[in-house]
Amino acid sequence: MPTLLHISVSTRAGASYSRRAGERLLTQLMLRHGPFDVIERDLAAEPLPHIDGAVAEASLTPEAARSPAQHALLALSETLVCELESADLVLISTPMHNFTVPSALKAWIDHVVRPNRTFRSTPAGKVGLLRDRPVLVVVSCGGPFHDGPGSQRDFLTPYLQYVLGSVGITQVEVLRMDDMGRGEACVARGFARLDAWSASLAVLPA
Ligand SMILES: Cc1cc2nc3c(=O)[nH]c(=O)nc-3n(C[C@H](O)[C@H](O)[C@H](O)COP(=O)(O)O)c2cc1C
Repeated sequence: MPTLLHISVSTRAGASYSRRAGERLLTQLMLRHGPFDVIERDLAAEPLPHIDGAVAEASLTPEAARSPAQHALLALSETLVCELESADLVLISTPMHNFTVPSALKAWIDHVVRPNRTFRSTPAGKVGLLRDRPVLVVVSCGGPFHDGPGSQRDFLTPYLQYVLGSVGITQVEVLRMDDMGRGEACVARGFARLDAWSASLAVLPA
């Protein structure tokens, strides 16, 4: 059975549109592709600590030279990397915060994008060490994205694609649900777009 890693981020529990969208997409994927072994990584229920100096130093110390304390400091990062490695498919459901990923998701990224574990630095830049796999991202945004006045820029989509690319994961598809803070009609339109996007996805062989 394929393994799906589901990362959910919103702190708004039952009121969250991105959580609702992620659960809906997961149900649709299971109907289409059969069951998955699902690993739930809920960054609101279990927030991750930010990387501190000791963790950063441990991650830069060659593995064979690490002290037992440094191995212990990297245990959480190792758990998160193993979850990602074991996933055939990743689903991220997240809000947009200040035009990009919420800090809770950024903390997850800082734990899994790790030198000599998930990427290697070379004179030509970072080389990813993970197997490529599909990542589906559903993003709930309160405001609009269009060419007119009052619109905003999306730094979340290119950032996620770039940072996951640095560890070797290039199949990142993003569905942005815009205007979700602007009333019921906008919310209904967002979920209709989710359903159309979901139906068009060919994430796994049929
Ligand atoms: C700290 C913070 C920053 C936000 N920044 C943005 C933003 O830059 N652009 C936007 O469209 N909405 C922004 N929002 C609104 C959320 O994206 C919106 O409420 C979204 O639906 C939250 O996702 P959820 O419903 O899954 O909790 C922000 C909300 C918060 C709390």
